[in-house]
Amino acid sequence: MNPLLSRLQPYPFERLRQLFATVTPNPGYRPISLGIGEPRHPTPAFLKNKLSDAIQAPDGGLATYPATGGTPELKAACADWMQRRYGLRLNTATEILPVLGSREALFSLAQVVVNPRQFSAGQEPVVVCPNPFYQIYEGAAYLAGAQPWFAPSDPARNFAVDWASVPAEVWQRTQLLFTCSPGNPTGAVMPLQEWQMLFELSDKYGFVIASDECYSEIYFRDEPPLGGLEAAVKLGRTDFKNLIALTSLSKRSNVPGLRSGFVAGDASILKDFLLYRTYHGSAMSTVVQTASAAAWLDEQHVVDNRAQYRAKFAEVTPLLASVMDVALPDAGFYLWAQVPERFGGTQGGSDVDFARDLLAQYNVTVLPGSYLAREANGHNPGAQRVRMALVAETAECVEAAQRIVQFIQSTH
Ligand SMILES: Cc1ncc(COP(=O)(O)O)c(C=O)c1O
Repeated sequence: MNPLLSRLQPYPFERLRQLFATVTPNPGYRPISLGIGEPRHPTPAFLKNKLSDAIQAPDGGLATYPATGGTPELKAACADWMQRRYGLRLNTATEILPVLGSREALFSLAQVVVNPRQFSAGQEPVVVCPNPFYQIYEGAAYLAGAQPWFAPSDPARNFAVDWASVPAEVWQRTQLLFTCSPGNPTGAVMPLQEWQMLFELSDKYGFVIASDECYSEIYFRDEPPLGGLEAAVKLGRTDFKNLIALTSLSKRSNVPGLRSGFVAGDASILKDFLLYRTYHGSAMSTVVQTASAAAWLDEQHVVDNRAQYRAKFAEVTPLLASVMDVALPDAGFYLWAQVPERFGGTQGGSDVDFARDLLAQYNVTVLPGSYLAREANGHNPGAQRVRMALVAETAECVEAAQRIVQFIQSTH
């Protein structure tokens, strides 16, 4: 067996299952989960219709092998969206590739980019990740034969990642860096200066930047989040050197089950990525490609979806802010709240105690922040925080928030 498999960590939800194994939730309340970050708004009807029409199409969407590189229609639709959203003109032949959702692409891109044999024996390459982070980054790094290095997010700077904390000898071994903007779980959007810093580091040390942008369409400020490729062009980097942006329909169009997204950026990396994907067998079904093209071409359902999140966050955030340190994020669908000190823990409240007791007393599930981060330099930047995914309908999220308010107030 591949020995690298043993490096994989249990997924946060598995750890949550273990934590809750001995807890009996209060049966006086119906269960509400803010634990799992999976979109739950309904899939737009036109997308479901498009899918079934594509199956029935006379040219037989299911009767042929799909093109790994994507149909011209899908790539044109992706390029069209990149132009409308970011003002970018991408070459559909070389700068865009469909992927089966961003998770798959985050993982497989690492297998393409990382060279585990670059350094002498005993020295492994490094993949730099934000901390807290989406756990696929870590698993992708391990299975590619690299070591993850975790750069903490700083609550004092709107949870910006402290890239400057990475030592020069680590940068020297860095082959890949993951960014997540808007961030999961913090909701932070990376400003242009931070991109500039990362591009300078990438130029100096030669690493690839994988920009995870799957929450880009759910935002609460007037200005839409800056994209990685958009930042590159603003800084004169029109060749997108060493930069790949990953985006997805899952959250934008409420189709996490469709498994559809695309990657865009550096043409030479995408050439190798396409080669890898041909062997890996990760071509998107033609039926899914047809429905995805329709999704990228329509913006109204995205505007409506965003409006639903905005209304929901406007109701829920002030309720929770009355009892704990939490604020409306830049973007995304999470609240990243600090646990009040009286819930145990050494410096602040224990996120694990909070999640366990909240389930036991009020039947509400939240995710302990420490499960989404790793201890680095003696500090787990997720500890003393909980992540709440506001993915259910507004009434359910409001009810959960009201129970959390009662829970916190009852511990006075
Ligand atoms: C930060 C982040 N990136 C990527 C993904 C993967 O999403 P998908 O594969 O559905 O595009 C998720 C899913 O929750 C996520 O939170």
